[in-house]
Amino acid sequence: MDAITIIRAKRDGHALTPEQIDWVIDAYTRGAVADEQMAALAMAILLNGMDRAEIARWTAAMIASGERMDFSSLPLPTVDKHSTGGVGDKITLPLAPLVAACGAAVPQLSGRGLGHTGGTLDKLESIAGWRARLAGDEVTRVLRETGAVVCAAGEGLAPADRKLYALRDVTGTVESIPLIASSIMSKKIAEGTGALVLDVKVGSGAFMKTEADARELAATMVELGRDHGVRTVALLTDMSTPLGLTAGNALEVRESVEVLAGGGPADVVELTLALAREMLDAAGLPDADPARALADGSAMDRWRRMIAAQGGDPDAPLPEAKERHTVDAPASGTLTGLDAYAVGVAAWRLGAGRARKEDPVQAGAGVELHAKPGDRVRAGEPLLTLHTDTPERFEAALAELGGDAIRVAPEGEAPARSTVLDRI
Ligand code: URA
Repeated sequence: MDAITIIRAKRDGHALTPEQIDWVIDAYTRGAVADEQMAALAMAILLNGMDRAEIARWTAAMIASGERMDFSSLPLPTVDKHSTGGVGDKITLPLAPLVAACGAAVPQLSGRGLGHTGGTLDKLESIAGWRARLAGDEVTRVLRETGAVVCAAGEGLAPADRKLYALRDVTGTVESIPLIASSIMSKKIAEGTGALVLDVKVGSGAFMKTEADARELAATMVELGRDHGVRTVALLTDMSTPLGLTAGNALEVRESVEVLAGGGPADVVELTLALAREMLDAAGLPDADPARALADGSAMDRWRRMIAAQGGDPDAPLPEAKERHTVDAPASGTLTGLDAYAVGVAAWRLGAGRARKEDPVQAGAGVELHAKPGDRVRAGEPLLTLHTDTPERFEAALAELGGDAIRVAPEGEAPARSTVLDRI
């Protein structure tokens, strides 16, 4: 077996054989296939696709490249949620303790933000003392004690994906449905969860810009999960405008705590409850009542325990940025559009995100919204507040928010928009 024959086969539009897939993933993980060869193969896959059988084998080979976690000794059913990434997507923060408060165990291995999308670990690290890295037995301990753990995946979990994702990131080969589906699902299956709910985002702030692509990604991932015995469902959700009223690390923690306290923006509450119901159903707890757990304080109680179990102080004041700048509504009327991608890039430029993996993030940086599409706004009144420690960044953020990013129509109405678009 050799890499060149495999690259040529995919370049010329042929399906790869199971033996070719197993060999190339294993050889790449061991360093016997070079980065430039894998980059060529990833580009050939991006251009020519893979059929369902190839995707299934590719995913299985990536799972087999590392260790699998096992939570079968826990007395509770396990269920996880994965979002394909968006702007202001802080849902994991209220959702994990909420589902734990309703009786399931939530092992949530999460990532960091890259580019315009935020990462759950960056958000939680704005809480003083909180640790994302846990040793293997610590993950189970926190899960046992609090019912939920949100932490970084260990080095041994799907190492083929770890290597390949970093390579795709720098070779223009991220946007391939077979590669995204196998990347996400290999990690989730290796994580050992019994059930999984996928939040597949669609819109300007998401990887998938069209509903057709989002549907195909969702269906591919659901099939992979079910093939591996993981009860999997997907919700297709809107990412044309940011979720909630904040995009940025500590800003989003603050908003999540508001939701856990029974308040918070309507779209964040709606999506948190919709995902919680799916997770509880998939975990075999269809009679649990997540709305009640939000209202009676039990979800907040779990949150505090979960943060404290990972070294965090749930009562510590959250960091705030040193400088603020407001952006006023350009006209009076109805806000008909506030573009998720533009807000996400603005938050990134302000310091909430990173350009390279090793860059630090500013905990207090980000964008705060004072109106959502559909709201009436008045010319000259604040529409957004930009937060950063480094005011020289305001100019770059403001440049992202020009053009068509903010749309106000004097007589217009925002198109009716629901947060959850479909269930797959
Ligand atoms: N998230 C992942 O884990 N992998 C991808 O390929 C894209 C998003």
